[in-house]
Amino acid sequence: MCGIVGYIGKRNSLPILIEGLKRLEYRGYDSAGVSIINNNNEVKSCKKAGKVSDLEKSLDIDVYQGHIGIGHTRWATHGEPNDVNAHPHYDMDNKIMIVHNGIIENYKIIKRKLTQEGFTFTTDTDTEVLANLISYNYMKTNNFEVAVRLSLIEVEGTYGIACLCASEPDKIVVARKGSPLMLGISNEELIVSSDASAIINHTKNVMYLEDGEMAVLGKNGFQLKTTEDKDIFRNVEVLDFILGEVEKAGYEHFMLKEICEQPDTIQNTYRGRINFDTGVVKLGGLESVFDKLLNAKRIIITACGTAWHAGLAGEYMIEHFCRIPTEVEYASEFRYRRPILNKDDVVILISQSGETADTLAALRESKKHGATVIGVVNVVGSTIAREVDAGTYIHAGPEIGVASTKAFTWQIMSLALITLMIAGEKGTISKEEMINCVNELKKVPEHIKHIIDMKDDCKNIAEEFKNAKNFLYLGRGFNFPVALEGALKLKEISYIHAEGYPAAEMKHGPIALIDENMPVVFIAPKDRTYDKIISNIEEVRARKGKIIAIANEGDEEINNYSDYILRVPATINLFAPIINVIPLQFLSYYIATARGCNVDQPRNLAKSVTVE
Ligand code: AGP
Repeated sequence: MCGIVGYIGKRNSLPILIEGLKRLEYRGYDSAGVSIINNNNEVKSCKKAGKVSDLEKSLDIDVYQGHIGIGHTRWATHGEPNDVNAHPHYDMDNKIMIVHNGIIENYKIIKRKLTQEGFTFTTDTDTEVLANLISYNYMKTNNFEVAVRLSLIEVEGTYGIACLCASEPDKIVVARKGSPLMLGISNEELIVSSDASAIINHTKNVMYLEDGEMAVLGKNGFQLKTTEDKDIFRNVEVLDFILGEVEKAGYEHFMLKEICEQPDTIQNTYRGRINFDTGVVKLGGLESVFDKLLNAKRIIITACGTAWHAGLAGEYMIEHFCRIPTEVEYASEFRYRRPILNKDDVVILISQSGETADTLAALRESKKHGATVIGVVNVVGSTIAREVDAGTYIHAGPEIGVASTKAFTWQIMSLALITLMIAGEKGTISKEEMINCVNELKKVPEHIKHIIDMKDDCKNIAEEFKNAKNFLYLGRGFNFPVALEGALKLKEISYIHAEGYPAAEMKHGPIALIDENMPVVFIAPKDRTYDKIISNIEEVRARKGKIIAIANEGDEEINNYSDYILRVPATINLFAPIINVIPLQFLSYYIATARGCNVDQPRNLAKSVTVE
């Protein structure tokens, strides 16, 4: 959701805060702000609606000279995006400055109490209430750290916060509950941030705060404690990626870079995990729960958005190859509908960021019922990765573009590896089939490279349809999730309304939408549903819909039924979703750029949804 950053050290804090906010901007980008304590121990603050670059333009660097500061880039939850509701927020006496990622759920009650105590408010935000509450407790205790702790005990909801106090200008107090927060640690300085992208440029040594923890950062180090005032000692961890991975590497957009890097880095997902001679797949991170997986009465996959689409492909794979009953659940629905769960169930949670609040809540709900919880996660050290019983990292590297692309294909590859690992052990597929699958897997990077070389075909079709008002995406079997994902990608970044459907479902309603203005994308590889999908194409053609077909090379028949064709190499259904989604990633990218949309930071979205 929002991105928060803080710095204390020997260097001037402002450039470090601004650079950090720019790296965190993919988390939320409707307004930004900073507060620093200058060399005269005065607090200087500035906040603005718009991008971090707008904030930067309005800052007089001479005024903002100081070694301690906090910053924020926002995704609005309470109060519309404008200069007033931007963070940092202050108490009524401008003594307490706070940046916050999360939601204070009982802020109205606290606001009423503080108003009766004579406090005044200038914004509609929950965060300003927390600033005044800290001030209220500071008046009572005359101790900044204690004031923050007492206030956090009173609030309900989620937070990642960093606070300054004008009366104690030599420290930053930070705390987390529900929203991610980590420390970058080096001899001379400390950086607090919502994620590693604002830290990697300064140090690789990090420490993750857990829920209910706070830290007091000073010039000579920090103290980690619980909000119940118990000291905590924790090991420093080392980040496993490099700065370059969070930069565009010459591409115009992160999204294009992340689509095009798929052939090279997809091997990270299976390197060292497959014996291509025997076909045996081993995911070390799942060994401790492998018996549970093998003997699972039921597997439940739960996630949100694109990760949910990957989960749906996983359901098809596990049932088809492992013969284990599998269900896919929207995490936000799953956690509130009193799910029937028991100890023989295995719940697989899929999340790129590892911080999505609904998926995290589904994890905790599943654990409460004694189910085994497994994570398929990208961000190393993220909350979901730390809270599951076992898991597998997809190793896609940092994904900065808000519209998920490479994480989707990696998630599917990871689910395919889990499927092969179980099926191989259970013997639900033969050794020959296993070897055939892993040999097909080996061809996947080449297949993707081939599609990337043809990306101009997508660009040309995108030019044709950049002004379309609606789109339909249709697929069958393993390609139904691809249809959903193609539609989501287009919606997210081009703001064109699009729906994904199982192709046969169309006759039961959506076909009413078809006319000469409706482009319909069919995912039509030559698999066992091919003839059926050709009939569906005919139904759309009969109503003058414009047919864009994702079809295999060498399939001449499809030429007779389609207005536009994007060719993809043929593969087995296990990997078909990975291959067939690539042209859809490009199509949405080129339509959105042709419409002048900001593809890396689409309106109203955020990369990691850390509030419910
Ligand atoms: C996908 O492009 C979106 N960014 C969004 O749907 C995303 O997949 C969803 O919010 C889940 O995020 P996660 O994988 O980080 O949990």
